Amino acid sequence: MEQDVNLQTFSMPRIGDAAPKFVATTTQGQINFPSDYKGDWVILFSHPADFTPVCTSEFMTFATMENQFANANCKLVGLSIDGLYSHIAWLRTIKEKIEYKGMKDVEVNFPLIEDITMEVAKKYGMIQPNEDSTKAVRAVFFIDPKGIIRAIIYYPLSLGRNFDELYRVVVALQAADEFGIATPADWRPGDDVIIGPAGSCGTAKDRMEDSELDCKDWFFCTKKISKETILSKILKK
Ligand code: BEZ
Repeated sequence: MEQDVNLQTFSMPRIGDAAPKFVATTTQGQINFPSDYKGDWVILFSHPADFTPVCTSEFMTFATMENQFANANCKLVGLSIDGLYSHIAWLRTIKEKIEYKGMKDVEVNFPLIEDITMEVAKKYGMIQPNEDSTKAVRAVFFIDPKGIIRAIIYYPLSLGRNFDELYRVVVALQAADEFGIATPADWRPGDDVIIGPAGSCGTAKDRMEDSELDCKDWFFCTKKISKETILSKILKK
């Protein structure tokens, strides 16, 4: 019975859905989401609470990588169930006092949403009550330039995210769109890419005989696209 109440109260957007709309106050002013981000990729992510150590390590890492994400046409928006003044005080403390893994004097310039009412967190399934009913889990939504959710990753409270993986996801999703390909396990730009199954691009026989393709079998063909070719379509510079 309790499960039903949770399902009604805490919706879970899915891959392929339009990103739920909201207006919110942030450390960078008001935002209309996702319309303010139309034309850009955006990562909307939540953290459990300000002034906590794992979240601090994550914010310092994200802020340090902000230009790298921007160069891949991807903006960042954070959220927690804390108020604006807590956010401002925490980010100031990070800048003024925290040195971690060679990062110091770190300024967080991307918006951090205040969500004390949990309105946004509930819309995005960031509250997972059996993990914690008053803190957001570490959710990551990858939203494309048309406002469609393209990938979602959730981590529990105790586990800090892998930011190389978040960046890899942004690049791989854009590569898939640009080149009409898929990316295999652990793909990085320059690794061979996957061509769709037979029928979507020629017959199995055609594909097996195509010298550009390396077909392990009729259903599993790869091809080379150089790192430069991939990155020239994705990165601004
Ligand atoms: C942290 O960011 O350190 C943290 C936050 C909530 C629960 C556990 C850890």
